[in-house]
Amino acid sequence: MHSETMRRTGGRAMKSVLFDADTIAGRVRELGADITAAYPEGDLLVLGLLKGSFIFLGDLVRQIERPLQIDFIVASSYGRGTISSGQVRLLYDPETELAGKHIVLVEDIVDSGNTLRKLIALLEERRPRSLAVCALLNKVEHHEPMTALRFVGFEAPSAFLVGYGLDHAEDFRHLPFIADLM
Ligand code: IMP
Ligand code: MG
Repeated sequence: MHSETMRRTGGRAMKSVLFDADTIAGRVRELGADITAAYPEGDLLVLGLLKGSFIFLGDLVRQIERPLQIDFIVASSYGRGTISSGQVRLLYDPETELAGKHIVLVEDIVDSGNTLRKLIALLEERRPRSLAVCALLNKVEHHEPMTALRFVGFEAPSAFLVGYGLDHAEDFRHLPFIADLM
């Protein structure tokens, strides 16, 4: 692997880079245009699921050419493992009013879909005008199709991916590309 990457990871090797920075940037531009076109009117709230969506959301909102607001939610995830526990807890609740707004929930990656299904149920109780999910990555083989999953960056293989916000035990979020872990 490239020496610059080895510097960024402290010498921990990645198997391969699946999506490089330019590829991600190109797709994020397209997603921004899709979201701009999908919401011709009404209040739009882009709701990021922390921490994994933080880089994606930062890039995405700058490609959406209409007024919007941003808030975040924090839900518990895998802890230190690489396997979904099936448990989702809300650790931070958005302060913004959700009722009557178009909400785009931004997620880094959909795996089993458990996190999303539970969050969607919680958020629907707040009576938004609409609720759609924008996920950077989608492990399509790991879950049934989800109608709320309206905007998807890339189909992801059945591997453990890191970088561009995605972590393994909190490492590798800062990588400017997406790689699969050894
Ligand atoms: P799900 O509930 O099984 O869909 O898992 C979704 C959450 O698990 C994501 O928000 C990520 O935080 C985490 N996750 C799932 N797959 C990966 C991966 O390949 N790399 C890093 N995090 C992942
Ligand atoms: Mg995570």
